[in-house]
Amino acid sequence: MGKMRTQSVRWRAAAVLASVLLVGGVAACGNSDTGGGGGTKDDGKITMGFSQVGAESGWRTANTISIKEAATAAGIELKFDDAQQKQENQIKAIRNYIQQKVDVIAFSPVVESGWDTVLKEAKDAGIPVILTDRSVDSADKSLYKTFLGSDFVKEGKLAGEWLVEQKKTASGPVNIVELQGSTGAAPANDRKKGFAEAIAANPNLKVIASQTGDFTRAGGKQVMEQFLKANKQIDVLFAHNDDMGLGALEAITAAGKVPGKDITIITIDAVKDGMQALADGKFNFIAECSPLLGPQLMDLAKKVKAGETVPARIETEETTFTTEQAKEALPNRKY
Ligand code: AHR
Repeated sequence: MGKMRTQSVRWRAAAVLASVLLVGGVAACGNSDTGGGGGTKDDGKITMGFSQVGAESGWRTANTISIKEAATAAGIELKFDDAQQKQENQIKAIRNYIQQKVDVIAFSPVVESGWDTVLKEAKDAGIPVILTDRSVDSADKSLYKTFLGSDFVKEGKLAGEWLVEQKKTASGPVNIVELQGSTGAAPANDRKKGFAEAIAANPNLKVIASQTGDFTRAGGKQVMEQFLKANKQIDVLFAHNDDMGLGALEAITAAGKVPGKDITIITIDAVKDGMQALADGKFNFIAECSPLLGPQLMDLAKKVKAGETVPARIETEETTFTTEQAKEALPNRKY
């Protein structure tokens, strides 16, 4: 009996010692990182967990290549996940990155809303988050370090302003159809808003139909077919990206109309295929959205990891293209 009690006392002492060592170890681990956060080892190397929206467009493909190439060039270990345009996949990927204790998490949110919980989890784990390409609508801005990307409202505005200028002498109504990006995505919300604001003062310009084509060629084609069936007179197509515009070209041609002439086509992105369509006169105007965010993103990751303060918002520099400008730019276009 006495021997058993002695043994049980020894076991309890061993258990207490083990838990003291474990807690000490975890605490040491949590404290070992730089001021930039990231509950990870400080071995001088940076590991980034990146959750990409998907592979829905030419823009996205160029963006993924830019990020992968820039990570290699910067010596940053990249863990990459393709969310296939699903928010739940992105949340799962971010939680995995938190578990793996990466140094920095970066992601391009498929939709604007619903990120607070997972962003708080990253913050509580001491892992800094960088938003790239698209932003979130979280009221608590401390949940992420910075947002690197385009001003989507401005892109929509530039598209609308060009149209207003083109149609300033139009005497009758100008019927516009709009191919929206993925429902709930920041570029879809913002481009729609910017375009609507730009044409608002001109009562001749009317959006007669507006529907999502999910930023894909297939979506653009399918929705344009419906628009053409349902509406006798379509004068203008505003597509939230090149890919949907390219898909719509097929529907327009199949309906016996000449794209760029019977229907004025305005898109956003300026990827090579879109620029080619513009140079060929099938598109009429493109507002640029640059996917080449990789180098700036890696630079930000290094700064954030080093505990440096970075600007809360970094806007991408962009331009617009007419047919003549597209012809000039095409030979040197990288994506
Ligand atoms: O978030 C950027 C947008 O996403 C691009 O304009 C579009 O092509 C992509 O799918």
